[in-house]
Amino acid sequence: MTPHNEAKLGDYADTVLLPGDPLRAKWIAENFLSDAKLVNEVRNCLGYSGTWKGKPISVQATGMGQPSAAIYIHELLDVYKVKNLIRVGTCGGLHDKVKVRDVIIAMSAATDSSMNDGFAPYHYAPFADYELLSKSVELASQRGFTTHVASVVSSDVFYVPDGVKSYGDLPNHGVLAVEMEAAALYTLASRFDAKALAICTMTDCLVTGEQIDAEQRQTSLEEMVELALDTALDI
Ligand code: HPA
Repeated sequence: MTPHNEAKLGDYADTVLLPGDPLRAKWIAENFLSDAKLVNEVRNCLGYSGTWKGKPISVQATGMGQPSAAIYIHELLDVYKVKNLIRVGTCGGLHDKVKVRDVIIAMSAATDSSMNDGFAPYHYAPFADYELLSKSVELASQRGFTTHVASVVSSDVFYVPDGVKSYGDLPNHGVLAVEMEAAALYTLASRFDAKALAICTMTDCLVTGEQIDAEQRQTSLEEMVELALDTALDI
């Protein structure tokens, strides 16, 4: 169907979860979805469709960074006519009020990428879908998660030279975490009149150097995936 995706039209549900890691997509399909079937394995960037509590849901890996994510997301929206996209990922903390394991629900996403420059000028501010955002915040608070509804920065650079200082004054302007995909996700969802949200667990604090341990990573991941799936139930 596309150079990057062999799924047929109709193979994806209206709602797709987007982890970066293909093996995480497989893990979500195998551990959360019922009757999951593999729909894409081009470049091993795995995609699956199944159901969650009876509702059709898909999961598609995006790879790391905006250029990779934007290919999969653009095709899901343009070719497969997907309506709701929820990124489930990790992020680095930029402010000491965010602790490892905290959940960041990204209301908006600044970026150092020039990807949008030609298409969305005026320092366009990519933003989340309000319905997905408010529903996920409500569910997260019911579950007692420590949640920050904040802005993130979608950076093209993982290995920044100067730690948290590389992000300048952003942490003092409500940008509490760094990840690598949300801005492209939000931009494309707006362009295709779809709904999008990025939910990220903070795994590495750039302020203190603290990192999540393996056991906490697994538990946090499970909680975040369930939060994303339940957010998708009513839309
Ligand atoms: N930078 C970008 N993305 C991330 C990080 C980081 O430090 N940690 C987890 N995802």
